Amino acid sequence: MQAVKKVKNMNRPDNLNTRLFLDGGIPEETREVISLLGFLDGQTTNPTLISKNPYAQERLEQGEKFTKDEILDFYKKVVDEISGLIPQGSVSVEVYADLQTTAEEMLEQGREMFSWIPNAHIKFPTTREGLTAAEKAIKEGMRVNMTLCFSQEQAAAVFAATKGAKKGDVFVSPFVGRLDDKGENGMSLIENILKMYKEGDGHVEVLTASVRSLNHIYEALKLKTDIITAPVSIYKEWKDVGIEIPDSYVYNQGSLSNIPYQDLNLNLDWQSFNIEHELTNKGIERFSQDWNSLISK
Ligand code: E4P
Repeated sequence: MQAVKKVKNMNRPDNLNTRLFLDGGIPEETREVISLLGFLDGQTTNPTLISKNPYAQERLEQGEKFTKDEILDFYKKVVDEISGLIPQGSVSVEVYADLQTTAEEMLEQGREMFSWIPNAHIKFPTTREGLTAAEKAIKEGMRVNMTLCFSQEQAAAVFAATKGAKKGDVFVSPFVGRLDDKGENGMSLIENILKMYKEGDGHVEVLTASVRSLNHIYEALKLKTDIITAPVSIYKEWKDVGIEIPDSYVYNQGSLSNIPYQDLNLNLDWQSFNIEHELTNKGIERFSQDWNSLISK
């Protein structure tokens, strides 16, 4: 690991009202994006992204897997380095969860990960167990990022489960690219959630995730999402066109079908919402497989 170098968050364009995060597990990319944009507001990591870190890949290629303690130590070092590069920002760190992981197990990991760095948001899956963990985590003073969100009902449940938290402490991450892959317009879910949250107290911020194109970025800016997380490749593409922030933008959704808006009551108990989504389960399976691929049996 290289020595931690502090970089101030400056040079943000005046007309940029959305915070920009990097989606990745490689500190060198963090440096690259800070230099491309002149600032960076935060970073999101996940088990798949950590498994793609070149150091982890190199170890695997040499036939040397990690023990459970070693991989956590590696994750901690990566996150610590990133945190030092953006001390004013937020760094999302994801708990290990498979379909059997209990809320208590997630919470225990979350407590540990939250102590790693001063600017962590802990990612829990938007499932019954994940929401149970998040509800407790918020009461203990932790910051959370509810990940693998694919529906408005899941976002309503996040709002209801984290009532009382202050703005900045709770993110919800709808995955637009993975909805697009299924023929559904992921950006329409962002629009729906933002509209629904207008009825609330603003304590949950919408973090547009699984971003695959500049179209996603421009539409997310137009919709005034609170935060966007995107991979380094998209920031490079954006830099090539001068980090333009269009005054007006017409999103080309192609053949993607819009997700209809639902009238949901944010004052209900979170348990009353239908939080099941097949993509959430698939996402959990993929994250846990990628993580387990690093660990020796
Ligand atoms: C970020 O928090 C998410 O984990 C990430 O954006 C998922 O992106 P993907 O759908 O490209 O894996």
